[in-house]
Amino acid sequence: MPKSDRHLVLGIETSCDETGVALVRCEPSGGVPALLAHALHSQIAMHQAYGGVVPELASRDHIRRVLPLAEEVLAQAGARLADVDVVAYTRGPGLAGALLVGAGVACALAAALGRPVLGVHHLEGHLLSPFLSADPPEFPFVALLVSGGHTQLMRVDGVGRYALLGETIDDAAGEAFDKSAKLLGLGYPGGPALSLLAQQGDAKAFALPRPLLHSGNLDFSFAGLKTAVLTQAKKLGDALEARKADLAASTEAAIVDVLVHKTLAALHATGLTRVVVAGGVGANRHLRAQLDAACATRRVRVHYPELHLCTDNGAMIALAAAMRLQAGRQQAHCDYAFDVKPRWPLDALEAENP
Ligand code: KG4
Ligand code: ZN
Repeated sequence: MPKSDRHLVLGIETSCDETGVALVRCEPSGGVPALLAHALHSQIAMHQAYGGVVPELASRDHIRRVLPLAEEVLAQAGARLADVDVVAYTRGPGLAGALLVGAGVACALAAALGRPVLGVHHLEGHLLSPFLSADPPEFPFVALLVSGGHTQLMRVDGVGRYALLGETIDDAAGEAFDKSAKLLGLGYPGGPALSLLAQQGDAKAFALPRPLLHSGNLDFSFAGLKTAVLTQAKKLGDALEARKADLAASTEAAIVDVLVHKTLAALHATGLTRVVVAGGVGANRHLRAQLDAACATRRVRVHYPELHLCTDNGAMIALAAAMRLQAGRQQAHCDYAFDVKPRWPLDALEAENP
């Protein structure tokens, strides 16, 4: 089948605790692919009892959900399985067992249909997800990738052209939210819970550390923050309950301050005037407000994914596959022997598909 005929891309995301499936259509004009339908099942309720993601349970639940979600997506789009031209899946990074479910299902579907498959980098999905928003970005831009497992600043010159500017040397921003929330007894996933409580608190109540704020480079470090939160919580003792919102607000402010400061430094270092924020922490309202305010005074445009596409979803995987195909960065293939890459740096993509 010639490449130009590969219109419909089915995307499957199973890297962690959300099963996502979506269908996008490549536009012959070369414009941004259109999202025709997407469906998501979140495992949050299942993992909540354990205070975090249980990998084995995640894999088993992906197995249960992925085909019904694919059927739902096709029905929503008024398409048949046989209409799908390429099947895309998240190849990494993520939980190995969870990734294997998506990869296995995608390759089995593609083999049965006689269609090619394409493995997608999860972070590339996040990074390109703002292209599905009403106000899509243009290349080049600085990307702030803030998810549960990653905190990175990248220079993005085009599809597949990603240069790492800086990253966390220990915990990710999402992890800092999650671990601090756990210390405050807020449960999983901690980010949204901590952020909600922070709305009622005073962000200046506690002076928490802003690690590497003035390090002179674009790296991050969040591991010390949870220790500082723990120390503060212990110090408060019985008074913690009454001051929890203040501590949550101070924690959120510390994380957001560092993210905003380093993003501005990355813009300064690259001379770029556009920034894209992607990944679950990109849903944080305080981060959005602070970054918008800082960028407005510097005439920098900020782009976010739609709120519901900030956390993991199938739409970003289908989109990334479609954009890679359109840009000629990668060919889908009919070799159905698959592997997954639980650890996979984003800037390695360019070396693999120069
Ligand atoms: O991108 P994502 O859905 O999954 C990964 O690829 O890791 O990000 C999940 C992370 C979690 O750490 C979660 O607590 C955080 O994003 N998160 C938030 C918010 N919503 C999700 N953190 C702060 N504020 C939020 N509103
Ligand atoms: Zn993610």
